Amino acid sequence: MSLILAIESSCDDTSAAVLRDNQLLSNVIASQKVHEQFGGVVPELASRAHQQNIVPTVDAALKNANIDKRQLDAVAFTRGPGLLGSLLVGVSFAKSFAQALDIPLIEVNHLQAHVLSHFIINQSGQTSYTPPKFPFMCLLVSGGHTQILLLRSHFDMQVIGQTIDDAAGEAIDKAAKIMDLGYPGGPIIDRLAKEGNPDAYHFATPNIPDFNFSFSGIKTSFLYFLRDQLKEDPDFIERHKSDLCASIQNCIVSFLLKKLEKAALKYHVSQVAIAGGVSANSSLREGLARIGAKHGWQVFVPTLQFCTDNAAMVGIAAYYKFLNKDFADISLPPYTR
Ligand code: KG4
Ligand code: ZN
Repeated sequence: MSLILAIESSCDDTSAAVLRDNQLLSNVIASQKVHEQFGGVVPELASRAHQQNIVPTVDAALKNANIDKRQLDAVAFTRGPGLLGSLLVGVSFAKSFAQALDIPLIEVNHLQAHVLSHFIINQSGQTSYTPPKFPFMCLLVSGGHTQILLLRSHFDMQVIGQTIDDAAGEAIDKAAKIMDLGYPGGPIIDRLAKEGNPDAYHFATPNIPDFNFSFSGIKTSFLYFLRDQLKEDPDFIERHKSDLCASIQNCIVSFLLKKLEKAALKYHVSQVAIAGGVSANSSLREGLARIGAKHGWQVFVPTLQFCTDNAAMVGIAAYYKFLNKDFADISLPPYTR
């Protein structure tokens, strides 16, 4: 049996979780509102907010789990990729905590953590839940990353394809910013798109070979389209908001799903998952279910609380490392890429 405290601080969410083996006992997330007024994450402000949040967040995670820190068997932290100033707060905290308690440290890669979120047994025990079986394919889509991965074991992840420029979440957030909808734009576009027509407007997707993606051209064509329309009608965005949201979302989601479907066919896998912040998107989740039904594949979408950044996913990745006694040295620095 293991009790692990996990810490996530790679971007703008300070999170701490406690897991008993693969079962989650608590998962506390302190989101940073300070970035909203800037329409994006300001690294220096993120780092400062992590410093303010980390102690109360860890404290709440231990309390909610009803665990005393002296019972812990290991402390896990996100080592990267992420913002350096943000990572440093979690990394330094984890190191001091582990040293003070004289227990091992476990370093976790943020992207692996997102994918492994499928293996978390949630607070209610969720005994009926079956995680994907190896090998399975996972589309990892977040604000910083877009990759198609083939998993042969918990830590054997082959990158089959990835974005050559912006991440999918970044593209969605930028589209929202162009329309002045607020930040982060993903959940807002998702909500507004529900009342819109996904075929109202068409934005060309680029011809990128293999299983790679590119989103910067889509963003630019969206920007130019709106610039032209606004010349004719200054209220164009306001009057067509939901159709615009539905159309740009449809463009990005269809692009993602088309490549994922092709990749799963090529690699002969019948278990297909999505992970990362954008996997919270209702259109992506529905689209994956449709593809699964069409091919008879088993599909896996993470519970909403595990889509966007959280420490529970860091904890599950740490659990599998704990089983392998894969511990980190106290001198390890964070990495940004
Ligand atoms: O995984 P995450 O929390 O952070 C990174 O590791 O980047 O992902 C954040 C991204 C943001 O771009 C946000 O807009 C997007 O996930 N996102 C969504 C939705 N919820 C969050 N995108 C589309 N639809 C959503 N419902
Ligand atoms: Zn993330």
